[in-house]
Amino acid sequence: MKKRIGNEFWNSGEAHEAFRSDTFEEAGLHPHLARIIGGYTPEKLLDFGCGDGALLPALDPSLEIGLYDPNLASARLAAQRSGSPVTRVYEDLASIRQDYYDVVVLSFVLICFPGKEEFLRALHQIRSALREGGVLIVAEGHPCFRDRQFVGHHVNYPPDAPFNYNAPFHEFNICLHGDEKDVEFYDYHWTLSDTLNTVIRAGFTIDAMHEIADSDYSGHKANPFFPPYLVICSKKQTSS
Ligand SMILES: C[S@@+](CC[C@H](N)C(=O)[O-])C[C@H]1O[C@@H](n2cnc3c(N)ncnc32)[C@H](O)[C@@H]1O
Repeated sequence: MKKRIGNEFWNSGEAHEAFRSDTFEEAGLHPHLARIIGGYTPEKLLDFGCGDGALLPALDPSLEIGLYDPNLASARLAAQRSGSPVTRVYEDLASIRQDYYDVVVLSFVLICFPGKEEFLRALHQIRSALREGGVLIVAEGHPCFRDRQFVGHHVNYPPDAPFNYNAPFHEFNICLHGDEKDVEFYDYHWTLSDTLNTVIRAGFTIDAMHEIADSDYSGHKANPFFPPYLVICSKKQTSS
């Protein structure tokens, strides 16, 4: 049977198993992401779709942190991982402070969206939460290299249905290489142009892109040829 995707999966107990299996990200991505975030010298950061807050221990504890996730149980777990004395969990979208945050992080949330409308809706919510000139930071698996083997994960593309980059929003079966056991679930493929054009359409200007190289971890050798992660930084366009 196919494992679920989207909110159905992320609202289930299986979500916590997936979070626990994602230990490589903490070593292989989060220090890079924290450095990219720090480059914008923010004081207030909103982690939108925070899950269980895996990124939070890597962040500067002097940041004021806002947390939102439709799975409130996850957001509450996330709050316990925050090193910041000013950490606020938003129980619903309507209560998120408007025109307030310097940075909003959207980390591995895009792949939960089956199409552009869902992403646009989230981007409008994020745009409202950002102050003028604030920065949206999207972190994702690199869409161009989904069929490669990485230290932290691989995607199962069967020989009779190989990776087709051009097939927008196809479901792909990702396998996270956990310390104790592997966990599989389905995500949606976003091409680079669908991602960037939707961000631009929502009123952001692209500021920078970072391709994060794979790294050795726990006795496993990095893929030296392809980057597993992509980070896109964009600024809230000022309305004139
Ligand atoms: C793959 S997890 C990523 C969690 C965390 N950001 C991380 O990087 O470890 C995806 C998260 O996105 C959340 N999510 C799904 N749909 C969302 C939406 N429309 N708005 C905000 N978060 C959403 C899920 O509940 C889940 O916690």
